[in-house]
Amino acid sequence: MSAALLEGAKGRVELHFLHLRTGCPVPDNVLSLAERQRAAAFRSSEAACLFVAGRVLCRNILAEVVDCAPESLDIAVSSEGRPYLPGHPEIDFNLSHTTGTVALAVCLNGRVGIDIERAEGHDEAAMRDLMSLILSKEEEADLRQLPSGEQPTAFLARWVAKEAVLKCRGRGLLDDPRRVTIGTGGSVSSSCNRPDEAGSVGRFHAGRDYGHLWAVATENPVERPAWHHHHTGDRLRRKHR
Ligand SMILES: CC(C)(COP(=O)(O)OP(=O)(O)OC[C@H]1O[C@@H](n2cnc3c(N)ncnc32)[C@H](O)[C@@H]1OP(=O)(O)O)[C@@H](O)C(=O)NCCC(=O)NCCS
Repeated sequence: MSAALLEGAKGRVELHFLHLRTGCPVPDNVLSLAERQRAAAFRSSEAACLFVAGRVLCRNILAEVVDCAPESLDIAVSSEGRPYLPGHPEIDFNLSHTTGTVALAVCLNGRVGIDIERAEGHDEAAMRDLMSLILSKEEEADLRQLPSGEQPTAFLARWVAKEAVLKCRGRGLLDDPRRVTIGTGGSVSSSCNRPDEAGSVGRFHAGRDYGHLWAVATENPVERPAWHHHHTGDRLRRKHR
């Protein structure tokens, strides 16, 4: 990436959606041996396909940022399961998947976390049972003030936002989502969790696109991101803006 593009990219997060077409396989030829072995170990073919699609998406997009071949990109995984580029600490990325879709966020200005979920079709009773595990007591009380029909979507949006924050931090649900507070205007604060995180704050953006709720959390402020949409079978490329 040229120095000018790199500088311009610093205030932004790039978001990429890969929509999986039914019956259109995702070739795994750019994956490393370890990734292909991990894909082969999934019991569910859908989970394996989502994993492969995530790695194909991030290898193709990140290879362009780094300027190398997708298959030669070195992707490591932290002890908490978070993938990262050991040779490029200036580039952070994060992945999320849900039925038929993979999402990737790329950031050149600190850490990033992303979460997506289908907006519809969830088991409302199961979601109500989960509320007390994800929301603080105050958040749960506020949510229960809403009309009953609005509560599941409001809960889901809050859950997606908190998961993006926890993925940005790198420990996912090893940290307690009840201690992450999503403020108005995209601010994030936390009474989490470890001494090294004292006072740590971040930012987040969220929305609804293509039938999905999404949230992106960043360590540093960035412009509101826009999505690039791709479909299996497309040549995956970034769009320079
Ligand atoms: C991160 C986590 C919240 C994701 O849950 P999810 O809703 O099922 O999954 P999503 O589709 O949104 O995200 C999965 C992706 O998040 C990324 N991820 C995994 N662990 C992560 C972490 N600790 N921090 C940030 N991102 C993480 C990976 O890219 C993963 O996709 P991949 O395995 O195909 O590469 C959950 O897996 C978690 O809390 N993991 C950390 C704790 C843990 O169990 N670690 C096991 C040690 S390996």
